[in-house]
Amino acid sequence: MSDLASEKKLRVLHFSDIHVGIQIRHMGWKRWFSKRAIGAINLLRGRARYFDDVEKKVAALIRFKEENNIDLVIHTGDYTALGLETELELARSFVEPLMFPPQTYLTVPGNHDIYVQEGNSHYRFSEQFCSVLQNDLPEYCRGGHWPLIRLVGEKVAVIGLNSSRPNLWPWKSDGEIPAEQLEALSEIVKDARVKDRFIFVMTHYAPRLANGKPDKKLHGLSNADDFLERCKAIEKGAILFGHIHRTYRVDIPEVSIPLYCAGSATMEGHEGAWVYEVEEKSIAGQQLYWNGKDFAFIESKKV
Ligand SMILES: [Fe+2]
Ligand SMILES: [Fe+2]
Repeated sequence: MSDLASEKKLRVLHFSDIHVGIQIRHMGWKRWFSKRAIGAINLLRGRARYFDDVEKKVAALIRFKEENNIDLVIHTGDYTALGLETELELARSFVEPLMFPPQTYLTVPGNHDIYVQEGNSHYRFSEQFCSVLQNDLPEYCRGGHWPLIRLVGEKVAVIGLNSSRPNLWPWKSDGEIPAEQLEALSEIVKDARVKDRFIFVMTHYAPRLANGKPDKKLHGLSNADDFLERCKAIEKGAILFGHIHRTYRVDIPEVSIPLYCAGSATMEGHEGAWVYEVEEKSIAGQQLYWNGKDFAFIESKKV
């Protein structure tokens, strides 16, 4: 990471919600738990067709990274449709070229990656992504890998919080950052090794929608207000997330740092992602769009 420390600007690629799904005919019936079955049928009914070209779009992101001097890659979860081992393996194989060197790739699971409670749902995600889950300050861990902290060069820190959990009912897809992780967040942002850096806080769920309002109860981050209250202590940084399949930036009165939603990099008609340039105290985000072949910057506008 020493080369990053000496660079003036850090360039970050943030994408999310690629939703790799395997064909239903390849699923073993024994693995169909009730919620998974309902979710699968719903996907079959309509949603899956929006995610037909995932491999092609992720390959375009890999080319984009190579051509645009990206230092750090962030994915904020929902790699899969149903959290099946085969889907996670396939998703990992698609993004693997972005995961090297491993300290320059950061991620959290989405609710679809731990779709049903099977005792080991979190382990399946960790198993596939273990090479990029190393923690620079593991003493703050409050369960599994979280919070995951990465110190990037001398001037940037990334804090990953896990807000995803299996939901018992298919119509419920809300999330929550466990209280222990929020308490750890308050301690981390005061830690001498972190506090003077530009701090990215990333999680899967959106604390606010594009209009600045909270998401719906059954779809949102249930303790978003508590999370934002703790982020008040961050003077220079940004909050990154996915889950909402629209790419947007929103500034809200609750915190002094911007919120960026990556949207979905692969959902047909809504493809998007962000590139951030971080310099000292400032961040400039440039939105990416899909032109049918490649990802490209939307004009030269930076927000
Ligand atoms: Fe999603
Ligand atoms: Fe999600």
